[in-house]
Amino acid sequence: MAVRQDLGGKVAVITGASSGIGAAVAQRFAAVGCTVVLSARRQEKLDQLAEAIRKDGGQAVAKPADVTDYAQVKELIDSTVGDQGQIDILINNAGHAVAKPLVETLPEEIDAQIGSNLQGVCYGCHAAVPHMIRQGEGHLINIGSICSRNHYPNYATYVAAKFAVLGFSRSLYEEVRQHGIRVNVLCPAAVNTAWADVAGTELPWPREDRLQPEDLAETALFCVTLPKRVQVDTLYLWPTCEPTV
Ligand SMILES: NC(=O)c1ccc[n+]([C@@H]2O[C@H](COP(=O)([O-])OP(=O)(O)OC[C@H]3O[C@@H](n4cnc5c(N)ncnc54)[C@H](OP(=O)(O)O)[C@@H]3O)[C@@H](O)[C@H]2O)c1
Repeated sequence: MAVRQDLGGKVAVITGASSGIGAAVAQRFAAVGCTVVLSARRQEKLDQLAEAIRKDGGQAVAKPADVTDYAQVKELIDSTVGDQGQIDILINNAGHAVAKPLVETLPEEIDAQIGSNLQGVCYGCHAAVPHMIRQGEGHLINIGSICSRNHYPNYATYVAAKFAVLGFSRSLYEEVRQHGIRVNVLCPAAVNTAWADVAGTELPWPREDRLQPEDLAETALFCVTLPKRVQVDTLYLWPTCEPTV
């Protein structure tokens, strides 16, 4: 089966596009003709990336939003449909961890992790699905983690949120597949991004040996360019330097 990697005429909203995986997905999708709507909290980073994509001949707009705030997520999705006429793909990628024992974790750090990793995914899907039902098709890609199936000390809240992303996504798929909407979960292990720095931890693998953000971008592109009959449920991606247990 030859898969055509052409997203000409498609519109994708990508959360967490100000760095790492989200930025790489945006660049890859734009390179194959997709109009990309870049979202995250840091407007300046989004503007810089949008500018770089446009300079390379792509189509990109920056729309800042905090995914923990439903009103902002709804505005992001509705204004995209208002401006672009459609939303074909939503990549719910924003997320962060705070690497600490639970008893040292502040209640607001618990809320923020549930907010960015889980609520943001639920909010994004809630806002996008009605548009996709009206269009008769759509593609939701939610970024989980190996923490969607493995458990680790110092990450209890993050693991809880990423486990929940999997359950949420699989349940939602059963609601929306009749409308031509697919829901994929990409679950990476260590990726060479700012994630570990934000979490306040160090990973034992050299940065160059970890998955690269471009690996996730290529996998997301693979998922959205498969024929409409193909639903990819969950993909786990590991760098070969990291044990899979
Ligand atoms: N790197 C890894 O090893 C790894 C492994 C498994 C899963 N993941 C997951 O991959 C996803 C992307 O992370 P990354 O590795 O690319 O790390 P990253 O470079 O730190 O990117 C995280 C992105 O999320 C955005 N973000 C965080 N909180 C947000 C909020 N409340 N509202 C809107 N945007 C928010 C950040 O933008 P702003 O700060 O500008 O808002 C940033 O663009 C996350 O869901 C992460 O959990 C990463």
